[in-house]
Amino acid sequence: MTDKWLSKMLANRKENENAHSSFLKLKELLERDIAQLNDYIIELTTSHKTEIIPLVSQHIISSGGKRIRPLLTIACACALGYEGRDHTRLAVAVELIHTATLLHDDVIDESKVRRGKPTAHQIWDNKTSILVGDFLFSQAFMQMVKARSLQALDILSTTSAVISESEVWQLQLLHNIVGVSDDDYLQLIYSKTASLLAASCEVGAIIAGGTTTQIEAAREYGLNLGMAFQIVDDILDYIGDADKFGKKIGNDLIEGKVTLPIILAYNKLNPEQRGRMEEIFSGKTEITEAVKQEVITLVTSAEGFEAAYQVAEHYITKAISALQGLAKNRIAEELGNLAKETVERQN
Ligand code: IPE
Ligand code: IPE
Ligand code: MG
Ligand code: MG
Ligand code: MG
Repeated sequence: MTDKWLSKMLANRKENENAHSSFLKLKELLERDIAQLNDYIIELTTSHKTEIIPLVSQHIISSGGKRIRPLLTIACACALGYEGRDHTRLAVAVELIHTATLLHDDVIDESKVRRGKPTAHQIWDNKTSILVGDFLFSQAFMQMVKARSLQALDILSTTSAVISESEVWQLQLLHNIVGVSDDDYLQLIYSKTASLLAASCEVGAIIAGGTTTQIEAAREYGLNLGMAFQIVDDILDYIGDADKFGKKIGNDLIEGKVTLPIILAYNKLNPEQRGRMEEIFSGKTEITEAVKQEVITLVTSAEGFEAAYQVAEHYITKAISALQGLAKNRIAEELGNLAKETVERQN
């Protein structure tokens, strides 16, 4: 039954591939602001001292990230009728924080592929990736200051600390399938991912001078979207298409990361199967292709992917309902569609 469900889900994704996505519609609606954002990104990744900074930055930036976070900042500001320029400074700040995080994350996760290309630390080295990441973080903070909103600065600096803290916490949770609960997992993904999507939306509403209700609605939308976004990322890490995902499939398993499909499946497996999962996630078993397939079969038999998708859907429903407090216009409507499409995303 589960196999059938999974095949249907994968087939649906293929059908949806050509759909005119909300991403494109939002980019059309916000064309002028996005163009400004792109100019800022180029400008802020230059250096007069060393060519390594633009080389590394351009390597990751031109590899084609989705730029969902700055799109959220701009969309939330414009949904509230903002006509100034400072939202693009905040948008570039969130994208640079994200890019810096990815440079660091790939070193920590020892990931070899990102956005369909070899990771920066594979081409250069760990030291270069970490330092260029730090440079991009600093550029992000300079842009936040230039946007002249102490409230936005407060939110984004707090979020940066929350992300770093969670990356350290995540290290402690590796290889512990018995000890990591679904609650731990949800707290972790809130900190490492949803907090930045929440902040991206929130600062957009703040810079636009939104009411407390609108600011809270924007945050609530981003937070719930972010939870679903990371859950789907963790599912795709097992059953995604490497070409579309732009990352190597199976990296989480190699790292011993205990993610939602694993937790939900583990709770339903029999003692013998649990024992095997404990062995596989212990860090002492070599993760071969056959072991990866074994995990996928076990998780599928316990409907772990299906159950994780259902949790993602739950967050999407919450995200969409939060939009009612933000605005009722084309942009808000497309933000709703963006949320719906997140569950079907392949990259
Ligand atoms: C990757 O984020 C990190 C996660 C939170 C899963 P994205 O999926 O937004 O990465 P890019 O920027 O589009 O490459
Ligand atoms: C996403 O973590 C959150 C951060 C990058 C902080 P992942 O480790 O799952 O992200 P990917 O899968 O490498 O993009
Ligand atoms: Mg990581
Ligand atoms: Mg990673
Ligand atoms: Mg991942």
